[in-house]
Amino acid sequence: MVENRAERVHLGRGFWGVTALLAVLAAASVVFWYVAPVYDWLHLPVAIETAKHVDELSTFMFATGSALYIFVLGYIIYFSLEFRARKSDPPDAIGIQIHDNHKLEFWWTIVPAAFVVLLSVVSVRIWYQIMPLAPATDLVVESIGHQFYWTFRYPEINGEVTGEMHLPVGVPVDLNLTSSDVIHSFWVPAMRLKNDMVPGMVTVIRLTPTKPGRYPIVCTQFCGTAHNTMNAMVDNTKQFVVVEDKASFDKWYQGWKIKNAHVSNELPVASTGTVDLANGSVSAGQALFAQKCSACHALGPFSQVVVGPGLKGVLHDPAHPNLVDGDPSTPENVAKILQNGYTGSMGSMPNASTNGLTNQDISNLVAYLNSLK
Ligand code: CUA
Repeated sequence: MVENRAERVHLGRGFWGVTALLAVLAAASVVFWYVAPVYDWLHLPVAIETAKHVDELSTFMFATGSALYIFVLGYIIYFSLEFRARKSDPPDAIGIQIHDNHKLEFWWTIVPAAFVVLLSVVSVRIWYQIMPLAPATDLVVESIGHQFYWTFRYPEINGEVTGEMHLPVGVPVDLNLTSSDVIHSFWVPAMRLKNDMVPGMVTVIRLTPTKPGRYPIVCTQFCGTAHNTMNAMVDNTKQFVVVEDKASFDKWYQGWKIKNAHVSNELPVASTGTVDLANGSVSAGQALFAQKCSACHALGPFSQVVVGPGLKGVLHDPAHPNLVDGDPSTPENVAKILQNGYTGSMGSMPNASTNGLTNQDISNLVAYLNSLK
């Protein structure tokens, strides 16, 4: 064991001076987070009262985090300069050995553990402040995530509301969230509330909007190639939550009730039986392909695999006379795969029921695929 560093088993000459400097910087950073209008800079207005509790937690974490960061980084820089290898050291010199220093190990375990417990206590307290346990009785709104937009359902409006979601100010509301295709996440930054939208599952956000305004909705799960278009923070032509007084809300609500009066609330019936391929619409098929198929299928040649194979020429490719299930590539057999789904060596694709395809949808898709040569 080389003992040439024995004389340096100490904290270094400048330790207490550096500590005092870091303490001043850390205190300044804490003051900064509590005084600076950070949430204004981030364009985060407060649309509901409870958003303030989330901000309190964020500010607490920013403040303690930056103070810790200043100490950790400061000491790393100080110690690596103070205890750097000197020219006079022999080539096999090793640093000061601190293994089995029980006092040190005790403190570096206790301090972070106590901090984590403190954080969890503060977080759980705020969780109960922002999430009422009782369901809302006045208004329940459903929001459904799609690739790549949201629709909304209201108790007395037939069908779905597109575009903006409106909420009356001061009325407790339950937002029931789900998805029609892949996992999205519904986030209204001004409300500091977010929940995933999972197909086949309903998740809930409970809130009482308290400040009228127009607040962006953002999707925060990568949900496909156009995920970025589900973000009204960066594109103000996208979808917003509009919080308004009761009279304006009622007017909007009546408007949609009348507009959708003729719309049926029946769900489309998933494809069964024989599909009539004669009346497919290429343009409707193209729109549907972009909406439902493009997440997994490119419009390139067979070899251009995204999740499934590229579908350009699926009906006109001499190199691939058969479909992935081995059947000849005819419109009828493509319709059969769309109806029943596929599981095999290429992977798997859900059936028409899971993909939400009606007989007409399948007929449109086959017409479109047939047009790609
Ligand atoms: Cu929807 Cu990302």
